[in-house]
Amino acid sequence: MKGAPRSTQFDDIYFSAENGLEETAHVFLHGNDLPAAWQGRGQGEGQEQDQFTICETGFGTGLNFLSVWKLFEETAEETQTLDFISVEKYPLKAEEIKNSLAPWAEYFGLRIDILLEKYPLRIAGFHRVKINQQITLTLLIGDVAEELPRLEASVDCWFLDGFTPAKNPDMWNTEVFAQMARLSKEGASYATYTAAGDVRRGLAAAGFSVEKQKGFGHKRDMIAGCFKAPCHSVSSEAKRRSLVSSQVRSLGYARDDKVENSRANRKKIAIIGGGLAGTACAYTLKQYGFEPVIYEASDQLGHGASGNSVGLYNPRFSKLRDDLSNFFAPAYAQFVTTAKEAGGAVDYTPCGALHLMNTPEKTERFMSMVNHWQWHEDHLRVVDTKEASDIAGIPIEYEALYLPDSGYLSPKKLCEFYAQDVEVHFNRHIKNVNEIDADAVILACGAAVKNFDSLTWLPIESVRGQISALQETAHSRDLKCDIHYGGYVTPSREGVHMTGSTFEKWIDHLDVLEKDHGRNINTLQKNITFLKNEDFKAVSGRAGMRAATNDRFPVVGVVPNSSNTYVSTAFGSHGLVGSIAGAQYLADLLRGHASCMPSKTAYALSPQRFIDRAAKKGHALV
Ligand SMILES: Cc1cc2nc3c(=O)[nH]c(=O)nc-3n(C[C@H](O)[C@H](O)[C@H](O)COP(=O)(O)OP(=O)(O)OC[C@H]3O[C@@H](n4cnc5c(N)ncnc54)[C@H](O)[C@@H]3O)c2cc1C
Ligand SMILES: C[S@@+](CC[C@H](N)C(=O)[O-])C[C@H]1O[C@@H](n2cnc3c(N)ncnc32)[C@H](O)[C@@H]1O
Repeated sequence: MKGAPRSTQFDDIYFSAENGLEETAHVFLHGNDLPAAWQGRGQGEGQEQDQFTICETGFGTGLNFLSVWKLFEETAEETQTLDFISVEKYPLKAEEIKNSLAPWAEYFGLRIDILLEKYPLRIAGFHRVKINQQITLTLLIGDVAEELPRLEASVDCWFLDGFTPAKNPDMWNTEVFAQMARLSKEGASYATYTAAGDVRRGLAAAGFSVEKQKGFGHKRDMIAGCFKAPCHSVSSEAKRRSLVSSQVRSLGYARDDKVENSRANRKKIAIIGGGLAGTACAYTLKQYGFEPVIYEASDQLGHGASGNSVGLYNPRFSKLRDDLSNFFAPAYAQFVTTAKEAGGAVDYTPCGALHLMNTPEKTERFMSMVNHWQWHEDHLRVVDTKEASDIAGIPIEYEALYLPDSGYLSPKKLCEFYAQDVEVHFNRHIKNVNEIDADAVILACGAAVKNFDSLTWLPIESVRGQISALQETAHSRDLKCDIHYGGYVTPSREGVHMTGSTFEKWIDHLDVLEKDHGRNINTLQKNITFLKNEDFKAVSGRAGMRAATNDRFPVVGVVPNSSNTYVSTAFGSHGLVGSIAGAQYLADLLRGHASCMPSKTAYALSPQRFIDRAAKKGHALV
C-alpha cells in the first residue's frame, strides 16, 4: 500500500507503511504466541477454561482486532470465546477506519462491515460490541490513564500499541504498567513493537519479564514477555486507583477460573418480568448462548411501564463524568446500535432531540456536561435559538443541547422484538424463586422485586406517569425532532404527537386522567410558546408506574447473600437505554468474563450499596 494512516496530532503512523497486516502478525500475534496460547486451553486438568481475554492499548483502525478475530475463528475450538478489550482516546470515524483498512477489504471479508455496523458512537465510556457468539469487543473510549483503573478483567494477553513512546508518553508510563499488572492473570503475555529503554524498565518494574526479539521490517528490536508477579509498589498504587477488592468481590466479579467455569456452565436463566428490563436480558443472554426463559404475570409482554406505543431514548444528564454518565452514556450508544438493528419492527425514528436550556440550573448542568462528558460533537452539541429552530422546524426560544442520534420508537414493540424466539410463560405470577427450575434467576419486575424475600429491604417505590397522544395542529405538524423541556413532545406520526409525562408519587391507580392530559398540554405550551395558542386535543393516553430508588439510580447486579439470583430494575424515566445496558452487564456477571461496566459504576448499580450505606449509619438492612 502507499503510505499508511497518519495521526497529525502525534505525527506518527497507525501501522507500518510497509505492511500493517504483516506487522500485526509479527509483533502482536507471534509476539504473544497466538494462536498457540488459546489452542493450549481446555486440555489439562484445571485448564478447562474456554475463554481468552486480550487487552490492547490503542484501538486505532481496529487492524489488530480484526486480525485476531480472523485468527480466532480459524484456529479456536467452537466452544472457546474471545474477549478483546481496547482503550482509545481519539476514536476514528467509521469512514476513516473503512478507508484505512481498504487494502485488506478482501482479506477480512465481511468482518470490516460487521465491525463498522456495530461501531459505537464516539462518546467516552465502556462500549460493548457483541460480534458473534464467540467474539466480544469492549471498547473503552477515553484516556488510558482514566479507563484502565475502571476496568475489571482477567487478562491473558496484552497488545501495547500506543504511538511511539517519545511522541505518546501517556500510553507508556508507570501507571499503565501498574494497571497491566493488576489486570493480568499470572503468566499473561504481552508484546509491543518498541524496545525503548523506559518501556523495558517500566514493564520489568511492574513484574513483567522483558525479552528482546527481532523487530518487524527495518526495525532491529521489539519486546515481549510475561507477567510473573506484581512489584509491591506499583500493584498497591494500581489498587488504590481501582475499586477496593472487597467491593469488587461484593459485585460478583469472578477473578478465578473455578468460579468462572461454574458460571459458564449455567445455561438456563429464568427471568421474572416481561417488560423492557426482562426482555432486554433475554435478548442479550441469548446472544451469549444462554437459554433465557421469561415468566410474566400478565398475558402480554410490556404489560407494565414498558407498554407505551411511543418512548424517547436519551441518556440522563449529569454535570460531570461520573457514575451516572459512565452508565447512561454508553447505554445510550448501545441503545442506538440496538434500535438500528430492530429498525422498522419497533417504529425506530432517529429524528434527533433538542433538550432545551429552559432553567438556569439546566443551562449550568448541560454546559458543564458538554465540557466533561467527552462526546464527539457529531453526537452532542450546544445550539443557539436560531439553529434550534432550524432543526426543530418551528421557532424555539431557548438554547439547547442537540443529540442528532436520539429519537423515539415503540417500547411495546421493542419488548416483542427482544423476546423473539424466547420461551415465555404468560400468566405466571412468581412469588418465590424456588418455584422455578433454572441455573440462575433474574428479577426484572419493576418495583415488585421488593415482594421477593431476598429484596424486601430494597428502598424502591413506584411513581405514576401518564403520556398523552395529541392530534397535530396546523402549526405543530412542522415539528421535525423530539423536544425535551422537563416534559417532551415528538414529531407527528400519522397525525399524532406523543407528549409526556406526569410524575405523581401519590396516585396508585392507572386510570387515564383528563387533568393529566391538561398538564402535559400546559407544559408543552409553556415551553414552546410558538404552540401556545394551538387547540390541542388528547386522542388517547396511557398511565404506568416507573420504579425508582431513593438515590434515583438503577439497581442491577447480584442479589446480596445469593449466588444465583440477580436483579435489574429501577430505571425511572430512562428504561429504554438503561435496560439494555443493565442486561449486558448482567450477561457479563453470569458469564464471569471481563465486565462492560466500570467497577465503581458497577458498585453504584449494585443492591449491595444500600446495605453498605445503612451499615455506615449503624443499622443493618439485611
Ligand atoms: C408514563 C411513562 C412514560 C415513560 N416514558 C419513557 C420514555 O420516553 N423513555 C424511556 O426510556 N423510558 C420511559 N419510561 C420509563 C420506562 O417505561 C420504564 O423505565 C421501563 O418500562 C421499566 O421496565 P421494567 O421492565 O423494569 O418494568 P415494567 O415494564 O413495569 O415490567 C415489569 C413486568 O414484571 C411483571 N411482573 C411483576 N411482578 C411479577 C411477578 N411476581 N412474576 C412475574 N411477572 C411479574 C409485570 O407484569 C410487568 O410486565 C416511561 C414510564 C412511564 C410510566
Ligand atoms: C499506533 S495507534 C494504534 C493502532 C491500532 N492498534 C490499529 O490496529 O490500528 C495508537 C493509538 O493510541 C491512541 N492513543 C494515543 N494516546 C492515547 C491515550 N492517552 N489514551 C488512549 N488512547 C490513546 C491513538 O489515538 C491511536 O489510535
